[in-house]
Amino acid sequence: MSLTIDCLDRSRFKGEKDSLVLFAWEPERLDAEGWLDARKEKGLEEIAQRENFKGKPAEILIHYPEKGEPVTRLVVAGLGRKKEAKADSFRDAVAAAIKASLKQTDAIWVDIPRWPEKISLTILAQAAAEGAILASYRYAKHKSSDADKKDILKKVTLVVEKPEEVEAVKTGIKKGQILAEAVNFTRDLVNEPPSRKRPLDLAKTAKSLGSKQISVRIYTKAELQKMGMNAVLGVNAGSVNEPVFVHAVYKPKNNPKKKIGLVGKGITFDSGGLNIKTPYNHMLTMKMDMAGGATVLACLKAAEKLELPVEVQAFAPFTENMPGNNAYKPGDVIQAYNGKTIEILNTDAEGRVVLADALAFASKQKLDAIVDVATLTGAVLVALGDKITGLLANNEKLAQELIAASKISGEKIWQLPLAQEYKDRIRGKVGDWANISTRGATEPGTIIGGLFLEEFVDSAPWAHLDVAGTAWTDTDIPTCPPGGTGAIVRTLLEYLSNAN
Ligand code: BES
Ligand code: MN
Ligand code: ZN
Repeated sequence: MSLTIDCLDRSRFKGEKDSLVLFAWEPERLDAEGWLDARKEKGLEEIAQRENFKGKPAEILIHYPEKGEPVTRLVVAGLGRKKEAKADSFRDAVAAAIKASLKQTDAIWVDIPRWPEKISLTILAQAAAEGAILASYRYAKHKSSDADKKDILKKVTLVVEKPEEVEAVKTGIKKGQILAEAVNFTRDLVNEPPSRKRPLDLAKTAKSLGSKQISVRIYTKAELQKMGMNAVLGVNAGSVNEPVFVHAVYKPKNNPKKKIGLVGKGITFDSGGLNIKTPYNHMLTMKMDMAGGATVLACLKAAEKLELPVEVQAFAPFTENMPGNNAYKPGDVIQAYNGKTIEILNTDAEGRVVLADALAFASKQKLDAIVDVATLTGAVLVALGDKITGLLANNEKLAQELIAASKISGEKIWQLPLAQEYKDRIRGKVGDWANISTRGATEPGTIIGGLFLEEFVDSAPWAHLDVAGTAWTDTDIPTCPPGGTGAIVRTLLEYLSNAN
């Protein structure tokens, strides 16, 4: 279960049996003013030196003081260099400290350090709450042993110097909590085994988000047939599990000035279809191919919790991409929802095919902007790796708004050009648009994917976030264990928070 996060001022500190987290800059080390007297601070400095602790980002030093000290366990977390200090430094340092404490203590106190730059207490508190909740995430529902399932840590208390600072911190905690819980919701769905999150299962999950302010419409296979959502149906043809198309709308209490559409790729398992993925390890993580769909649902729910003044519409086509007797084939031509035809040259480029219908459908809803999130191309991993999301857009203002939001969230994104020079490469021989370019090694895969999608948006400003690299991590990082990351959820929520 999620951690409780609270704030108190120092005069109310009573942590005799608890852990305390203090912070250290590199290379100055400890910032323990008001916590330790000069002699003890010197003692801790000596320990740090012996342990070769430098205060590097997310570096951790753990010390068990002798009896009679105010706490039984002291965690020192590195913030890195002062002149590079951002809210991210604090988020990561808190995450590392919490991660090192999950099984050690049930309550932990976190000192909010004095910050060199003008970052408000509210922003620091938000970062701390996010760091703590993200670090405590685990996906253990299919583990049978208690050791895997249970943590001891229940409560995190942020400590400020003065009572009048508590309010500002509580505001930050509240926002951080909502954002981090949206990320963890996304991680849960991404980590779920593929046969436990079939399209109809995810339709149920989407339905469960409904409320007074959120309406959820599920289109079934029969309805998609009537509507002419042939691209979704084409990708689905090899699967025995019916597709669904989710359209969910969050309406704020007051009439919104803006309506924003979020479109998510929802391939619940990508086998590649008849162009089956080889070698075998390329298929190992393909339950994550619905990360975009999970992301847009998470953002919709969080928009309601944050009481954002904008209307948010989420669109997600959910289907498996499977080989089968009825599967769509290279050479097939499919007419998408907007009437344009798609010539299938590779059944493994299925994400852009389902998004063609979804973007065309979203384009009919009179939105002020459309942002899609998709694990679209392996090429984005080659270009930007697993820490940077690719961005393509037909509108520079929207691109800049997303980049600005990513500077607040600390999730890196990098814009690639929607270079029309390459458009000819996807002109179809038989149909309007081919779903891949056939030049092989010289093809800029992520740009090609974006150029294809562009054909299915109408006049609205549109941006595409390729999270194929960032939606999953193979390695353990302070804010995330291996598996689904929930990448870009916080960025989209920062974007929506400012989009009015
Ligand atoms: N879901 C994959 C993209 C992907 C790759 C996501 C690696 C996460 C990690 C997508 O459907 C796909 O298969 N793309 C192909 C496109 C190609 C056939 C043009 C790819 O990138 O290889
Ligand atoms: Mn694929
Ligand atoms: Zn895919």
